[in-house]
Amino acid sequence: MAVNVKGLSDNARKTAIAELNARLADALALSAAIKQAHWNVKGRNFIAVHELFDTVKARLDEHVDMMAERVQVLDGVAVGTVEKVAKTSTLQEYPTDLTKAEDHIKAVCERMRDYGEKVRAAIDATDEAGDADTADLFTGASRTADKDLWFLESHLE
Ligand SMILES: [Fe+2]
Repeated sequence: MAVNVKGLSDNARKTAIAELNARLADALALSAAIKQAHWNVKGRNFIAVHELFDTVKARLDEHVDMMAERVQVLDGVAVGTVEKVAKTSTLQEYPTDLTKAEDHIKAVCERMRDYGEKVRAAIDATDEAGDADTADLFTGASRTADKDLWFLESHLE
């Protein structure tokens, strides 16, 4: 059943659905990459970094859920299967041969920075299309990405 939202143009709705699904794919790929880091990291400060990855992932996953559910509110189809995400994510593939904490933090940060930049572009795209609510949702996601970049980079020597 179509959700009848008033005061939102068809273009605004369609732009928002496209932007949300694009960033949803990136966020899911990033989330899986962070879990990969959480599992495989080794070294002296193992517990600190291992746990940090999980807290960063948990914060990211909140935004994943908000993006997917906003698609449903706008009468779209949220696309979040691993098969689709593998094809549509724009993030660089995460390496499976890393072990050192520094290498994992750097690899996650590179992808977090890329994701953050694309979310920021999505704020402007949805705002210009006339969907301030989706722009606001992306603003929250980008603020979390910025803060978690700080958390992660603070662990680099
Ligand atoms: Fe775990």
